[in-house]
Amino acid sequence: MHNIAIDGPAGAGKSTIAKIAAKKLGFIYVDTGAMYRAMALYFIRNGISGSDEAAVSAACPGIDISIEYQGGEQVVLLNNENVNAFIRTEEVSMMTSDISKYAAVRSKLLDIQRSLARTKDVIMDGRDIGTCVLPDARTKIYLTASTSERAKRRHKEQTERGISCDIGQIERDIAARDEQDMNREIAPLRQAEDAVLLDSSSLSIDEAVDAVINIYKKGAMAVNERS
Ligand code: DC
Repeated sequence: MHNIAIDGPAGAGKSTIAKIAAKKLGFIYVDTGAMYRAMALYFIRNGISGSDEAAVSAACPGIDISIEYQGGEQVVLLNNENVNAFIRTEEVSMMTSDISKYAAVRSKLLDIQRSLARTKDVIMDGRDIGTCVLPDARTKIYLTASTSERAKRRHKEQTERGISCDIGQIERDIAARDEQDMNREIAPLRQAEDAVLLDSSSLSIDEAVDAVINIYKKGAMAVNERS
């Protein structure tokens, strides 16, 4: 399979860019953050604290996460309910960062993610795709942008969704999430040794998409030249 792994911090534009690149290349786009978010939603709804690892782990076997595609859009199903509309709040974002450090949560989603990439060409985005989920991915990209640029983009996105928010607060939340995601023990966010670094701070969406496709094509060319 020709898999593309895209990792990077919150708000770097991974999902926007990966979604468009997937369409252009005819790949399936897999947003792994959405799966962690659906798990977090379950814990919020069931009054389970994100700091209670024992309770989170005990609940994991009763949670079913799957994804399907409706009109080309990824839909995350939490125990068969489409939860796409509920997983993008700041409350869910913070809970997701809390619970994604636990082994029980990660191992559950790792299997689902790997099996998706086994049978299809995927562009998968997340935090540990190049380092853990798909270490043999043909193309690995570490997509980042400055914290202030990421906060600006997230603010615009939330405002467009009709959610009022404070940009300073968003910047602090992003920094807190990065800190937690980069410093956890299991599968921390870091650039894989063989990943290409792409800084999208001063790139438009189209330019970043072109850069991703070029990195993929160059990699594919190198593979062809070797074979
Ligand atoms: O990409 P996102 O903002 O939707 O991710 C939400 C959280 O999920 C993020 O703070 C860390 C976690 N996550 C993870 O630990 N591993 C992944 N592969 C994807 C997301």
